[in-house]
Order: sequence, then structure tokens, then C-alpha cells
Amino acid sequence: VITKAQHKYLSARAEELIKKAGVLLTADELKKMDTADFGLGNPEIEGAQIVPLIDTEKIAMRVIVLLPLQTEPEHWHAGSGDIPGKEETIRVLYGTFYLCAEGEDNRQYARIPEGKDEYYTARYEYVMSPGDTITIPCGTRHWFHAGEHGAVLYSVSTAARDAADPFTDPNVVRVTVLTE
Ligand SMILES: [Fe+2]
Repeated sequence: VITKAQHKYLSARAEELIKKAGVLLTADELKKMDTADFGLGNPEIEGAQIVPLIDTEKIAMRVIVLLPLQTEPEHWHAGSGDIPGKEETIRVLYGTFYLCAEGEDNRQYARIPEGKDEYYTARYEYVMSPGDTITIPCGTRHWFHAGEHGAVLYSVSTAARDAADPFTDPNVVRVTVLTE
């Protein structure tokens, strides 16, 4: 649950980083920003600011902003029935960005929020800078962490059904609930 005041604060900070990254977004696009706390109630530690740009039956594109040292919880993109899971390409635009995916543990910088080790099982860390691009196959667990200046990235993918994405942490509620 996010209060309206928290939403305002988080989106203002995210907008600053979007400007620093030199990404052009319209006022209407910025209005759609999701300040996700993933139902965990501590968005500056575990959260992400997500601006949906394109959603068709085949593709999706988002700008994702992580505040300094913010972590987006581990999840994967599962298929259902005939619909394959989302294949997601991340391109970093600003900041130092740590992407952890399944693989041998080489993690050095990406911080797991305190007491949450069991919910961050993907430990192969990619250290990424502006211009770096990585594609995450569907079904692969992944999570994100930003360096001390925050990070801005594009997520370009096959069709997204964000609300249905499974997360490793059973406490996650993907749809952001806004309250007074
Ligand atoms: Fe993802």
C-alpha cells in the first residue's frame, strides 16, 4: 500500500532521474507512472517506478526507474496456456545497474534487502552501464538493483501481463494499491 503523498514523492524523484537520463516522456505518459511497492510497504528499499509506454498484443515497452540503492524484487515471466512468457530486454540509459539472473553465484554489488535472502535466489550478477543491453529469456528468475545514483532503463519485451507475473517472495502483491 502506497499513500498519495508517497506516490508524489517517489514519482518526483523518478522524474528527476528520467530528466538526467535525457529520456523524453510526455506528461500523459508520466501520469501513468506506477510507483510500485510490490505490496511490501517499504518502496525506497524494495520498489520500482515504472512508466508503461507501449502495450499491444505482441509487444510492450516501459521505462523503469530505480532510486539509489532500490531493489526490484525477484520475479519471472511465466507463460499460461498457449501464451508464452514474456521475453524481456533491458537497456540501461542512466546509472549503474545490477541485474541478477539465474546462474552461478558471482554477486558482488547487488544488495538483497535485509532478512530476505530466501526471496532472492538468482545470484548471477551483470554489472551494467548506459548502453548495455541484456535479454532475459521467459521463465528465468531475475531481480534488479541500482547503484548509488539510481538507474533508468528501457524494458522492451514481448507482450506483458505484469499483474500475473510470479514473484519469489509470497508476500508480494504486484498491483499497487494507492490510499489517502
Ligand atoms: Fe522482469
